[in-house]
Amino acid sequence: MKATLLTLLVLQCGVAIRGAQIFAHMMPWFETKDSNNGQWGIHWTMANRNPDNVVDGKQDIASFYHPEIGAYASGDPTVIDWQLGVMKTSGIAGIFLDWPGTTEYADYPKNKQNCEAIIDGTSRAGLQFAIVYEDNNLNLAGVPDKIAQGTADMQYLQSNYFNKGNYVQLDGAPLLLDFGPQALTDGGQWDQIFSPLDPKPTFLTLWYQHQQGGQFNKGEFAWIYQDFMDGLQNWYANVDLPTKIGVAYPGFNSFYEQGGWPGPGFTIEFGTNTFQQTIDLAVANTDVVQVATWNDYGEGTIIEPTEEYGNQFVDIVRSKSGTKYTKEDTEEVTNIFFLRKQHANNATMLDHLHQRYHTLMHKFD
Ligand SMILES: *[C@@H]1O[C@H](CO)[C@@H](O)[C@H](O)[C@H]1NC(C)=O
Repeated sequence: MKATLLTLLVLQCGVAIRGAQIFAHMMPWFETKDSNNGQWGIHWTMANRNPDNVVDGKQDIASFYHPEIGAYASGDPTVIDWQLGVMKTSGIAGIFLDWPGTTEYADYPKNKQNCEAIIDGTSRAGLQFAIVYEDNNLNLAGVPDKIAQGTADMQYLQSNYFNKGNYVQLDGAPLLLDFGPQALTDGGQWDQIFSPLDPKPTFLTLWYQHQQGGQFNKGEFAWIYQDFMDGLQNWYANVDLPTKIGVAYPGFNSFYEQGGWPGPGFTIEFGTNTFQQTIDLAVANTDVVQVATWNDYGEGTIIEPTEEYGNQFVDIVRSKSGTKYTKEDTEEVTNIFFLRKQHANNATMLDHLHQRYHTLMHKFD
């Protein structure tokens, strides 16, 4: 990895002037009534919640945690500037974006559209991005020819995302993660769907699955599992691969049971202790760290500012990232968000706020 040489040089000089490269795993799948034809999106409601209701002073969403800005639409540029602005001012280098593929099934087209609004936002914020492909969607969508659809998805990525100036390059090629494999579980299938791509991506699977990733696989990324620190320590210490991306997470406290959706039922205590432990371990063991997650409210793994935790998690990220941005800069991002909502009908004011955001995002360029 690029970072290795720099890190070594820094260590040899004895001054830690450089922090870890931290990326945030981001979900693009939230919708409000305004963004979704009068219906709250399923990721806020699961089977049985209604965000129009207020319970104990909070919106009744399918999560134990509540976004500081209220339940939002993932494609709203004002929301996106807030999310990416908070990341930027915490020293996060970019996002690993959960990407649904190009099928027309369920809410995937809207999720993909939101991804593209978010990608536009990464250029405004001066952040990088890489794609996390959800190959399991080939199963969920009941795609008859998974190779043909997978190939079309890869060609779409190459033509529309890999060529962007802020797409993450690792080991000389665009970084592509897969959340699995879960559908294309034979390495030869990945070789087939990558065949039209030039260059081949730097391809990583979930931990312990690289053997299913085909000949272009370079390694794995760690994730959340119930064995918690033991599982992480074991993977960092014993798995030897060319490229490994570590994971930092605040816990796992899913709403599946309460929300009436299927999903894992284990719990890892949610809070700053869990986040501090996992980020310390990740930074000590890998050059590139993925925060899991920015905003998976349903699984209860979010570090995005919430009513419950405010900026506590992003403050921890800031302390590990080595950024020059301060807590006050993050507060400024949130102020700008609320002013943009408040003055949504005043073009003069919006221009002024846009300029304030832009200046803040590029303060240290
Ligand atoms: C719009 O914002 C500008 C700049 O802050 C302010 O001077 C102006 O009075 C506002 N216009 C309205 C209609 O509120």
